Amino acid sequence: MPVIDIHNHFFPREWPDLAARYGTSNWPRIKHNEPGKAEIMVGDRFFRQIYSACWDADVRLQEMDRDGVDVQVVSATPVLFAYDRPIEHALDCAQLFNDSALELCTQGKGRLKSLCQVPLQGVDAACRELSRCMKAGHLGVQIGNHVGEKNLDDPAIITFLHHCADEGAAVLVHPWDMFGQLRMPKYMMPWTVGMPAETQLGIVAMILSGAFDKLPRKLRICFAHGGGSFVFLLGRLQNAWQHHPVAHGVCELPPKEYLDRFYVDSAVFDLRALKYLVETMGPDRVMLGSDYPFPLGEHRVGELIRRSELPSVTKSRLLGENAVKFLGLSASTLPDAKSPRANEPIHTKADQLTYSSYLRVPDLLQLQHPQSSPQHHDELLFIIVHQTYELWFKELLHDLDAVVRNLRDAGENPESPDEVYEAARLLRRCTEITRVLVEQFTILETMLPTHFLAFRGKLEPASGFQSEQFRELEFLCGLKDEKMLRYHKPTPEAYAQLERRLREPSLHEVFFEALQAMGKLQIDKNVSEREQFEARARAVASLYRDEHSHRDWIDVCERLTEFDELVVGWRLRHIQLVERVIGARMGTGGSAGSSYLKLTLDKKFFPELWQARTLLTE
Ligand code: HEM
Repeated sequence: MPVIDIHNHFFPREWPDLAARYGTSNWPRIKHNEPGKAEIMVGDRFFRQIYSACWDADVRLQEMDRDGVDVQVVSATPVLFAYDRPIEHALDCAQLFNDSALELCTQGKGRLKSLCQVPLQGVDAACRELSRCMKAGHLGVQIGNHVGEKNLDDPAIITFLHHCADEGAAVLVHPWDMFGQLRMPKYMMPWTVGMPAETQLGIVAMILSGAFDKLPRKLRICFAHGGGSFVFLLGRLQNAWQHHPVAHGVCELPPKEYLDRFYVDSAVFDLRALKYLVETMGPDRVMLGSDYPFPLGEHRVGELIRRSELPSVTKSRLLGENAVKFLGLSASTLPDAKSPRANEPIHTKADQLTYSSYLRVPDLLQLQHPQSSPQHHDELLFIIVHQTYELWFKELLHDLDAVVRNLRDAGENPESPDEVYEAARLLRRCTEITRVLVEQFTILETMLPTHFLAFRGKLEPASGFQSEQFRELEFLCGLKDEKMLRYHKPTPEAYAQLERRLREPSLHEVFFEALQAMGKLQIDKNVSEREQFEARARAVASLYRDEHSHRDWIDVCERLTEFDELVVGWRLRHIQLVERVIGARMGTGGSAGSSYLKLTLDKKFFPELWQARTLLTE
């Protein structure tokens, strides 16, 4: 897969005198001073020093070879946007740039591609120019993050973005014309402070205005400079969204639900920032973008990604695979870096559902973060085994919640057999999953005790006590031990969820309420808990005694008993594993270890089902 840089800039070597052409002042121009060097001027004001890579395809190709970059997607220097000019001038300026960008690409031996620019202040002209450019061979468009006072949620800009989606044009949003410049006259602060805030504003405006709800998913849009400050402050946005109605906007979902609607580039210049960016946006949403060949760009393009500790599968996504999707290219038809392919747009496969995109495989494979350093070989196994347990716990909760609903409905409608049948069917799935969970410990037992001890110290104070889903399962089935909440204080969301489970009816409760509704059980609340227990056990025994009339309920009872049995089996296997790996040591959660865990072996979700067996006679 070629390495593709989607964010770098170009300024044509020859550029007409636009001030003379349109009769208005302060247009950007290029002033060549000495061989290979030039200045971009805005009118008579110095704007930026540039060098020949800005306009010379050969220099670019040499530096791309030096940096191991196969393809560059060039775009205009934002100072050329001209959104504050009359539309016809901005259109003419855009066309001059767009045609000269294609000319550069023809000298690029198939390794240079381009994004056009459009007069965004006039939606019709912008759409027409985009269509012209897509036909001519541009892969998309670079736009500024605002047009004067209008942010990206402006209806005209949304219309333009719809058009981009229809044309299959990739959109790169670049900050420009930064606000608050009077307060940032020095030290390049408009670039270092203003630009990230402008980009954040662009993204937030699109999310809260519901623009992403209106725009089709096929729109491929990317925000430069890692999305500016957006990702770092997403938590703040989310918090405001949840707790301040006025900050809610009109979007259908919370802000963090829109992260799969856009891309960001990798131009953040810090390894930890890149790691956080990838963790937040997901490994399929970040692409190599360098800001080359400007001084604020990455000086060895791609170095940040290559130096990072991201898994190699993620690196190759960032370096090229994601760009292939973003640009609407097809990997198989992507021009080989060495072959002089034309700059034609290539049919997109980007929006097609794949095995990987449906299952979010890239995200899944990103979720293992060993703590040992250097990484101990067995820590990956330790993480993956626990994660698999948690996934199955999730499925168990999903199924058991449905069982609770079915038994509740069965209680409300005792004549209908369907709900009881469905409860038994799902319970059978739960027992099969639990059987696998009991077995799965053997995989972890391939880890030598010494190997575990080599990284165990890194895990404290994390402990199985903090498995929220395990505790949810216990609470949902009927073992509601409020004391266990204390292990979840560090995670308020888990705490709140467990509190909810404590309040909600358990499987145990709905099961016996259904028997009451059927007239099989009368509970006198005034008698002792023991007597109530015996009454429940007698009710179960009465079902077994009349097998002919209660086959489906007996099936439910058998599945519940089996589930109980398997969970005890899980506890026992877990204890054996613990003893095999850490002997009689204390747990990382502060318990006495295996001797504590042995006390849990007596726990049963449905003790009445077991007691009923004692009550049955020959
Ligand atoms: C090397 C492997 C393991 C060791 C040494 C180990 C050790 C322990 C210890 C000592 C405890 C008691 C709490 C404490 O003081 O920390 C515990 C609890 C727990 N562990 Fe493990 N464990 C291991 C693997 C697993 C796995 C694979 C799971 C799967 C989810 C798991 C789930 C749990 C749960 C849910 C608890 C709480 C049990 C309860 O409160 O009844 N453990 N573990």
